[in-house]
Amino acid sequence: MANQSREQWRSRSGFLLAAVGSAVGLGNMWRFSYLASEKGGAGFVALYLVFTLLIGLPVMLAELTIGRGARRGPIKALAHFGGATWRWLGVVFVAAGFLILSYYGVIGGWTLRYAFEAATVGFAADSGAHFGDLASGFDSLAMQIMFMAMTMLIVSGGIGAGIERVARIAMPGLFAIIIGIALYAFTLDGSGAGYAYYLNFDLEKALALDVVVAAAGQAFFSLSLGMGAMLTFASYLPRESHLARETAVISFADFAVAYLAGLMVFPLIFALGLDGEISGSTIGALFVALPKAFATMGLVGRFVGFAFFLALVVGALTSAISLLEVLVSASMDAFHWERRRAVLTAGVLVTALGAWSAFDIDILDLADSIAINLFLIGGGLGIAIFVGWIMQDPIGEASGVGTKPILYVVWRGLLRFVVPAALLFILWHALPETWEKFRAVAGLG
Ligand code: PHE
Repeated sequence: MANQSREQWRSRSGFLLAAVGSAVGLGNMWRFSYLASEKGGAGFVALYLVFTLLIGLPVMLAELTIGRGARRGPIKALAHFGGATWRWLGVVFVAAGFLILSYYGVIGGWTLRYAFEAATVGFAADSGAHFGDLASGFDSLAMQIMFMAMTMLIVSGGIGAGIERVARIAMPGLFAIIIGIALYAFTLDGSGAGYAYYLNFDLEKALALDVVVAAAGQAFFSLSLGMGAMLTFASYLPRESHLARETAVISFADFAVAYLAGLMVFPLIFALGLDGEISGSTIGALFVALPKAFATMGLVGRFVGFAFFLALVVGALTSAISLLEVLVSASMDAFHWERRRAVLTAGVLVTALGAWSAFDIDILDLADSIAINLFLIGGGLGIAIFVGWIMQDPIGEASGVGTKPILYVVWRGLLRFVVPAALLFILWHALPETWEKFRAVAGLG
């Protein structure tokens, strides 16, 4: 039974912009740049690219296939193709969305705060202390609430009039800003050291287990995979859409933005001689080293800094929208709620859970570790097994008419063997890190 009254994207480009909006976010800028510096530059970037191609692409096509075919939120969609047992994978997806959005909203709040300060009072010279003050506590909570309120407002507008409309304006703006700043950074004296740092390839470092694990998790997080966000967006697609092509476009755009983010962040930091600052703090790197650079650059710094944090706000918002939409579509399916009611309920509950991260940055870090290492990697494993082994005729479902079947056979082969093996390996090696973080936060260590 097709769900006739279901909302739809207004156009193909609208869907693409919204899906790229989901993928491109804090992951590409905040998370990517601190990992690239912590995990040794180009080797990490290369691995991240390999995981994007080998695992990200097949899993994304799998999610899009399920979503478009079932035309329902994640829980009902999995039940539609796999029966009652597989709905539990959908429940895990929704739980993952809940956890991720809880702390994502906190970081989104930080970006709002920095954009606002750039526009009004400028960047604090002592950026480390300033970040310490606002990252945790009531300031952080207030900004998180503001960020979540904006997210809820957009999602309550619905697929076409809310999410698609915002993505159509926001995404071109974000691309323009990032390219502009990357070009600007190139003109700065001394930026060369930044490129050298970012693009330096160290094979030995790249083969370290923690780098491999981080690169895989980052690929999933950045592509919004393993928790039903892409699945949910695809559930508003018309039947005739070309999923393999959309998969390629979304993944390419996502990688390009992360790569470009590195080309703006590192040259800026190194040109101002602040390379000591990036190694000092992991989570805070973007919020400490860069503002310090902007602070020393005078009026130009204010301007460039404002544009930078505006791009971050936009990226964070368009990703948060997709996280909330997963919760909203699942609860609309399950309880037959109206959109507004679903947005209000899910939004308030997520914000309340996020307050915990707003008050304690170690909780935020732990939530991020659990969400990615357990939920996203585990969720990706579930989807690969489901589409590779359980679902009837996934190739027919994915390809529709007039396509090249051989590529789909490769796709299914990857989902059956390569993806599960790789993800099991990653999951196994990711667990100790998350467990250590848990012990430290719980005071067991
Ligand atoms: N991909 C988003 C980012 O890079 C985060 C995200 C993860 C969004 C999972 C939706 C689902 O910021």
